[in-house]
Amino acid sequence: MRALVRLAAMAAIAAPVVLLVAAAGAQPLPHGDAQAGARLADRVCSACHIVAEHQELPPLVAHSAPSFLAIARRRRTTAASLAAFLAHPHALGRMPFPHLTQSQIADLTAYILSLRGR
Ligand code: HEC
Repeated sequence: MRALVRLAAMAAIAAPVVLLVAAAGAQPLPHGDAQAGARLADRVCSACHIVAEHQELPPLVAHSAPSFLAIARRRRTTAASLAAFLAHPHALGRMPFPHLTQSQIADLTAYILSLRGR
């Protein structure tokens, strides 16, 4: 009985979250500004990632995170996969949740995808 009550409570908590995630996934991606994304990446992401070819400072922890070029070159990387990765706190993985706005995510996504083919 107790287990049932807990299950019901968990379902009540989880349902709106699932709906929210589904709604967010359904939204069209805002069109990102790759140059703004490059500036943001330099400020926020470069402590861990190599974000550009001529990055001024190397990442603080060498080889801990894939370079943005390597991420861009992966076949499975898409605008949707990047946006989903950056928008949701993930229990797995070593990257901390970056708390970005939708427009920052769009800019970063546009920037990372712009590295493709380089
Ligand atoms: C504190 C270090 C740190 C910072 C800051 C950081 N990352 Fe990461 N990031 C990581 C690590 C470590 C991984 C590899 C994740 C793993 O394998 O667990 C990663 C992985 C990724 C991936 C690849 C996910 C995949 O599908 O494999 C993307 C995309 C990414 N980061 C984007 C960003 C962006 C954009 C920023 C800046 C807003 C950022 N990261 C800031 C450490 C960081």
